[in-house]
Amino acid sequence: MSDWKEQIVNLREAFNKDFERFKNLENDKSLLELTLSLNDTEVLLQELEDLNIKYRGKKSEFASLSKAIGGAPPEDRAAFGKAISELSAEFNKIWGAEAILSAHIMDLRAALESLDVTIPGKRPRTGHLHLITLLRQRIEEIFVSMGYAIEDDREIETDYYNFDALNIPEGHPARESQDTFYTTTGLALRSQTSTVQIRAMERRGAPIRIIAPGRVFRRDTPDMTHVPMFHQIEGLSVDKGITMAHLKGTVAEWLRRLFGKDTKIRFRPSYFPFTEPSAEFDFSCFKCGGGGKFEGERCRPCKGSGWIELGGSGMVHPNVLKNCNVDPKVYSGFAFGFGLERMCALMYSLDDIRLMFENDVRFLEQFR
Ligand code: DAH
Repeated sequence: MSDWKEQIVNLREAFNKDFERFKNLENDKSLLELTLSLNDTEVLLQELEDLNIKYRGKKSEFASLSKAIGGAPPEDRAAFGKAISELSAEFNKIWGAEAILSAHIMDLRAALESLDVTIPGKRPRTGHLHLITLLRQRIEEIFVSMGYAIEDDREIETDYYNFDALNIPEGHPARESQDTFYTTTGLALRSQTSTVQIRAMERRGAPIRIIAPGRVFRRDTPDMTHVPMFHQIEGLSVDKGITMAHLKGTVAEWLRRLFGKDTKIRFRPSYFPFTEPSAEFDFSCFKCGGGGKFEGERCRPCKGSGWIELGGSGMVHPNVLKNCNVDPKVYSGFAFGFGLERMCALMYSLDDIRLMFENDVRFLEQFR
């Protein structure tokens, strides 16, 4: 065998070996579509281009063999030329593979970059305020419209602000450790927002008209009607000539604005260390209007009594005023306080106030 023939045989053999892995592309396009990523396909195409240069480039063995045709003995030339063009035709398979890979790359890129403008947008889930916050804000608005300022103060207090300044004497059950959370340094979490009365009067003096919404803490085991952290709103109004009539008028007015103009209130004598006299106040049931029956049945929120117990109140004890440097001979005032959780539970017919603090969106979502 002459030199060129042997060279052509070797070249063909080497090419077929190198090209082996591209051979199946044409036969099994699905393989390509299913398994090759964009990056893998681009790598493969690059390898194919390297093969092209190796076998058909200017400096390839094939190029120098082609040039050698002219120098071959005349009797060989025709066969030599034919063999070269056959080999060249075989090398053309590279183009077929390249077209398949390029098309696949185009498809993958198009899929990556395509944007279906007709797909409905994904609306972000928006949050909303907690039902306790919503009720608090409604009540705040009412009091602000009645000329009250809103006070906020600390939740961890000293014994002085928690008890002494509020005229809560040593030995009063509120001071018992089983009723209150104490810190290791002797401070206590406030068990009522009444502490803010003291702080606010110290800061602002008299006359003063404030409400103080906030969290309070008690050592209660959670059950359907108790949680160890809940919310209260405290009210305080101190001025010259304030009487119990102002207290009654104020409580009646804000409850009417919240539950409607037919709402009635009643006061029952009670005891609180920081007020004298003291009273608890109830309002006529927002559901049955005070009749005790709703749609012929015993009304649920008021348990058929027609009244809903709400909070405590009274005329600020002279000792409390004195503790804040307000002269009880010049000034008098009323105060009241009530909880938000029970109110919310009644308004929304919740059987269990713990629901409000479990953070279950299925529950919370119902109150916007
Ligand atoms: N702090 C009392 C409580 O938590 C409620 C209260 C009663 C507040 C009488 C007052 C008041 O301001 O005068 O039960």
